[in-house]
Amino acid sequence: MARTPDYFRGKTIVITGAASGIGRATALVFAREGARVVCGDIDERGGLETVKAVQAEGVEAMFVPTDVTRREAVRNLVRKGVERFGRIHFLFNSAGSALKRCGFLEIDDALWERTYDLNVKGTFYGMQEVLPHMLENGGGTIVNVASMAHKRGGPGTSVHYASSKGAVVTLTMGVAREFADRGIRCLSVSPASVDTAFQAASGTTEQSMQRVVAGIPMKRIATADEIAELVLFLCSDACEFMTADTVYVSGGGGFR
Ligand SMILES: NC(=O)c1ccc[n+]([C@@H]2O[C@H](COP(=O)([O-])OP(=O)(O)OC[C@H]3O[C@@H](n4cnc5c(N)ncnc54)[C@H](O)[C@@H]3O)[C@@H](O)[C@H]2O)c1
Repeated sequence: MARTPDYFRGKTIVITGAASGIGRATALVFAREGARVVCGDIDERGGLETVKAVQAEGVEAMFVPTDVTRREAVRNLVRKGVERFGRIHFLFNSAGSALKRCGFLEIDDALWERTYDLNVKGTFYGMQEVLPHMLENGGGTIVNVASMAHKRGGPGTSVHYASSKGAVVTLTMGVAREFADRGIRCLSVSPASVDTAFQAASGTTEQSMQRVVAGIPMKRIATADEIAELVLFLCSDACEFMTADTVYVSGGGGFR
């Protein structure tokens, strides 16, 4: 929670992957706090549903169709947000996926490139497109979604994904340290499994999910809302000495 009452009221956040899961949950948590939300996603129907849900909280929101693997699309997302709301205070890069589970030797060039285009290039474009605006306007906070997977390496199922999230952690650190004295904070969050459409889309089976849950001391996976509340905290003025690091949300597990 923010230290200053109404800290988020009237401020603006851009969220990629806002049509579903963690992105949508974050849009709603920021809306609850009175922030305007600029939603980007390839899923137009889901994006518009998020906008409707945000507006139901009594705050303004807009949807911009955005494929984060295309620089021009990400540029357009930021441009549209600035045109409508004047200033972007926060960027949350949530768009991402493991795309497919497979062993290391089965990762082909197409899967490798799609994974890196979405998780790494998408995050890179988001930060490069919003930073000049934030620097000209007194600063801002960027939060990227990495994953606990980057600590484990994804053996047997998702080395492509885990390594791309390792790149997100490193990208975040580099940007945070390069711009730390110019009003920019940049952090990443590294959740263990979260209950979203991500699981089905990445080919997680019931059996593999049971194995995951068995390894978590809390014996459950995270909710999207729990990750959204963390993003809110990181963007707030509660602990402004935080930057560069990734924050793990694991239910106590996953470090082995
Ligand atoms: N769910 C988990 O277990 C988990 C764990 C750790 C990290 N993550 C990360 O969290 C982030 C959010 O995932 P989620 O769990 O909310 O999944 P989700 O599938 O519910 O949401 C992902 C969103 O990204 C959008 N998207 C996909 N490709 C896109 C593109 N090219 N351009 C724009 N948008 C695109 C999808 O349409 C979807 O709305 C991802 O980066 C994911 O890697 C998820």
